[in-house]
Amino acid sequence: MDSKIRIGIIGSGGIAAAHARAYKKMSDVDIVAVADIVPGKADAFIKQLELPHAKGYEDHQELLSLDLDGVSVCTPNIAHHRTSIDALMAGKHVLVEKPLAITLNQGVEMVQAAKASGKILTVGFQPRYDPNMKAIKELVQTQLGNVYYIQTGGGRRRGMPGGTFINKDLAGAGAMADIGCYSLDLALNALDYPKPLTVSAYTSNHFGTNPTYHPEAEKFEVEDFGVALVRLEGGKVLNFKISWAMHMDSLGPTLFLGTEAGLKLTPAGKGPWSGVWDGGIGTIDLFHDINGKHVDTSIPVQSHSLDIFYEKVRDFVVAVKEGKEAPIPAEQILVNQAIIDGILRSSQEGHEVDIHIPNLAETLS
Ligand SMILES: NC(=O)c1ccc[n+]([C@@H]2O[C@H](COP(=O)([O-])OP(=O)(O)OC[C@H]3O[C@@H](n4cnc5c(N)ncnc54)[C@H](O)[C@@H]3O)[C@@H](O)[C@H]2O)c1
Repeated sequence: MDSKIRIGIIGSGGIAAAHARAYKKMSDVDIVAVADIVPGKADAFIKQLELPHAKGYEDHQELLSLDLDGVSVCTPNIAHHRTSIDALMAGKHVLVEKPLAITLNQGVEMVQAAKASGKILTVGFQPRYDPNMKAIKELVQTQLGNVYYIQTGGGRRRGMPGGTFINKDLAGAGAMADIGCYSLDLALNALDYPKPLTVSAYTSNHFGTNPTYHPEAEKFEVEDFGVALVRLEGGKVLNFKISWAMHMDSLGPTLFLGTEAGLKLTPAGKGPWSGVWDGGIGTIDLFHDINGKHVDTSIPVQSHSLDIFYEKVRDFVVAVKEGKEAPIPAEQILVNQAIIDGILRSSQEGHEVDIHIPNLAETLS
């Protein structure tokens, strides 16, 4: 493809600006359209971000009627499903922000639409482009033997968002989906996403619903804390926990216990909003025992100058240009969504539930 890649952005809020800035750095990309349901918002965004070739729309379908190669879906979680499916069915490649959707069924329909259209549906997990995350995957797959226990999940001390993020209908879930999806991706991607079988979970929202801690307490409908025990295929178990707010500095490191060695990861950063995996990796330690002699190895954390957000957007563009597969395929991230779906069901029902990912061969209804 010699001509420039023509991009549209659906949803022009906070994260859309990060997409726009990334695309603007690419000489082979033109942002030609922006859509936002709030009247005038797309035009204001175009002006603010200085996008000379872009036109603003209120209806994403109008944007999709244009000649575009790809779209970034940057709406609140609730609209990922409709806008992504419409984009795919209009023949556009899609980079959808995380989390994939608000329900497992929505995610399944999105993947079916991608399959039916033959277009890319990739999910915006920028930590995948952190070289430390790649190194961790390599260590897990080459040093640990059979990994049987994984503990993951970060804890913000006071890091509760507001607005659409705390509305159950619009966000689907709270901390579990918003930042938990990153922790799940860190752990499960390292293991090539083993299939989840069952989950027993607990969630609460003691802080979000308390006006002392949240200015929109009366509107807070999602969980600010959750913990889950997830049985995975292959005799593995995942202990996953997350918080947006708590009286604690951390929920502990990420651990991988294997038959040959164990791996411990601590998050980077300190402070109320730190301690989540989107905040980076602090230390990496490998533990093993050779002939009764204990040997521990600290793996140097790679300092890098990569803008991982740019890298994720660039990878999407390169995949579009070169006709490659989705860099972070939605089909893989369905497993992540299935776990979050199971957590919400288990927490509501108060007991362990099965996780079942529907048959993707079914046609799009
Ligand atoms: N990858 C990351 O680092 C990261 C960071 C923050 C948010 N996010 C994700 O990005 C998404 C958006 O988050 P945000 O913070 O930008 O939210 P936001 O509320 O700032 O922006 C969302 C925008 O979408 C618009 N919108 C809603 N429905 C729409 C529709 N049907 N068509 C067109 N526009 C529509 C809203 O009017 C709003 O302007 C969320 O899914 C969130 O989880 C990702």
